[in-house]
Amino acid sequence: MIHYHKLGSIPPKHHVTHRENDKLLMEQCMTRVGFDSTYSILYFRTPPTDECAVRSMELPGFCPVKPVEHQPLHRRHIRTQDIKPDGDFLTSRRTLLMNDDVHVGVAKINQPAGHHWFSNAQSDECWFAYDKGGLLETVYGPLPFKKHDYVIIPKGTPYRLHVEGDAGTFLVFESSSYIDVPKQFRNEAGQITMDGPYCHRDFRMPQELLQYDESKHGKGPFPLIVKFANQVAVHEYEHFPWDLAGWDGYSYPVAFNIHDYQPRTGAIHLPPTIHITFAGRGFIICSFVPRKVDYYKGEGHQAIPCPYGHASVDCDEILYYVEGNFTSRKGIEGQSISLHPMGVPHGPHPGTYEKSVGTDRTSELAVMCDTFKPLIMTDFAASIEQEDYHYTWVKRENEAIETSK
Ligand SMILES: [Fe+2]
Repeated sequence: MIHYHKLGSIPPKHHVTHRENDKLLMEQCMTRVGFDSTYSILYFRTPPTDECAVRSMELPGFCPVKPVEHQPLHRRHIRTQDIKPDGDFLTSRRTLLMNDDVHVGVAKINQPAGHHWFSNAQSDECWFAYDKGGLLETVYGPLPFKKHDYVIIPKGTPYRLHVEGDAGTFLVFESSSYIDVPKQFRNEAGQITMDGPYCHRDFRMPQELLQYDESKHGKGPFPLIVKFANQVAVHEYEHFPWDLAGWDGYSYPVAFNIHDYQPRTGAIHLPPTIHITFAGRGFIICSFVPRKVDYYKGEGHQAIPCPYGHASVDCDEILYYVEGNFTSRKGIEGQSISLHPMGVPHGPHPGTYEKSVGTDRTSELAVMCDTFKPLIMTDFAASIEQEDYHYTWVKRENEAIETSK
């Protein structure tokens, strides 16, 4: 929900006749929180209820997923850079970490989008484009996206995602509640406040309606794979169901580029929550972007730009490393995910704390997610975990450990 938006043809009032070439269109209200929260109203040429077949299916690694049975408490490093790309926007998805509020996974794509579309009926989704742009086709219209965009797709949106060159890597969050602009960045009218880290102009949304094109969309039946209750089912439509005559409302996909996030720097180190970008129930998503670092100097003391050690006893924290110098954390590379759970402290690797004093910039680019319930790894995540990450804070004799955060 960014602001009110409309495309195409809509009647002057809700729930009144609306025709195209004398044919009555089918109105569909996409509502949130029952009928009490934001909604969009869509005008379908083909009713979205005329499936000609429904059957169950499975997408291994994504749905269903298997949580690990034992997860002893320690700091972890999940090496998603070791995952081989395998599939399209849907079949390549792998869930890595999960709790009741949020699932975190990746999609490493090496195939063009198949004939199928997908709708996540249990979650809002937030895709972070690690290395490529592309095009998100949705029932609300096509939405082009760029490298390093966050693309937010509301719960229940039928979509298909195409990547430039049919190959690319994404970090994907699934949230059982809204993924939205945090409340503190809205004024009483819902407008993003002037001291927010972004403004309405930074968000992009569909600018035209989707047009059915047999050369791109193929012939029926048209399969929609729907995820609900951690199961997937295929709903087949005889006629292409996602080209609308028009829609309006507050629920639709948006894209936001991480480089449009305006970072903050204090005289002395500010807590990581100043990087907050989006929020859902039980978690936040933060953006670490290249920026000036803390600059206090006085009376023989200086700011320490490297984060202090911390035991955030009510939060699990994951960081997805994208680009730049991760203040040289040992063994961490692009696509690494670190999981620093509640219950054990974490902080800079040996040497980096001292080394950061006097520096004035960081080039790091990373996405962080803090959750208020513990994250459980899937079997798949456990299979790509670095076994000894927890011990990389131990400085051994004659070992030059250069690291950070
Ligand atoms: Fe931390």
